[in-house]
Amino acid sequence: MSEIRVVFLGAPGAGKGTQATLLRQQASVTHFSTGDVLRRHRIEKTPLGLQAEACMDRGELVPDALIIALVEAELATTSMFVLDGFPRTLSQAEALDTMLATRCMPLTGVLFFDAPRDLLLRRLTARWVNPRTGRIYNTITDPPRAAGIDDDDGLPLEQRVDDTLETATRRLDVYEQQTAPLIAYYTQRGLLTRINAAADIEDVAAQVRATIPALQRMETHR
Ligand code: AP5
Repeated sequence: MSEIRVVFLGAPGAGKGTQATLLRQQASVTHFSTGDVLRRHRIEKTPLGLQAEACMDRGELVPDALIIALVEAELATTSMFVLDGFPRTLSQAEALDTMLATRCMPLTGVLFFDAPRDLLLRRLTARWVNPRTGRIYNTITDPPRAAGIDDDDGLPLEQRVDDTLETATRRLDVYEQQTAPLIAYYTQRGLLTRINAAADIEDVAAQVRATIPALQRMETHR
């Protein structure tokens, strides 16, 4: 299979994590979520986790230097990946370009998950997660079979501390100020494909699947 190196770009709640989980089951790609990695560091109380937690709890971005070092270490071991939640600033996008250029491994595409703000806020405040596996549910759109219990392993589900109305609102503001400019950045490079992320999960998954041949063709033509 041709190599896929793709960024999932979109606001909090757009469905990046949900779709990256589905894609990794179909294509042999590494799903790298900076948010998930940071949350693991917090649980383990590593120096990075301790440095990141105040920013995360306020709904603000962790400093670029910390995140760039984290991603650089991760990408050293893989050539096919979905980056979920990175880059989120222009500095991070430029650092990613440099990292990949030194390894002659350009991005093969960027999928922009586009959905309106009021829908994003409703999704975030109804999200519940299995803390062990990371499986994502939604009490409105994708509930577990038994309320509050994971379908697969029966563990109690948890709500993320940054999914309160106040912090989710702040995260959406931060996205608009610091991350939305990346839509133009990747459009100018001819890499961006818009996904209608307001559709239901299956429909969005079908849109993502439909982009795979183009993501692979881009790789072979570079
Ligand atoms: P992170 O964990 O990356 O959070 P996020 O970007 O805010 O993204 P989310 O995980 O909230 O949303 P998602 O798009 O993955 O949606 P999901 O699929 O879960 O980051 C957390 C924090 O870490 C940041 O605030 C920051 O502090 C820090 N951080 C991380 N990366 C960083 C970086 N690069 N730089 C600096 N700081 C960084 O879906 C949401 C809900 O909707 C779920 O309940 C799901 O079931 C439901 N849903 C999904 N799709 C659909 C659909 N199509 N229809 C109906 N419901 C749906």
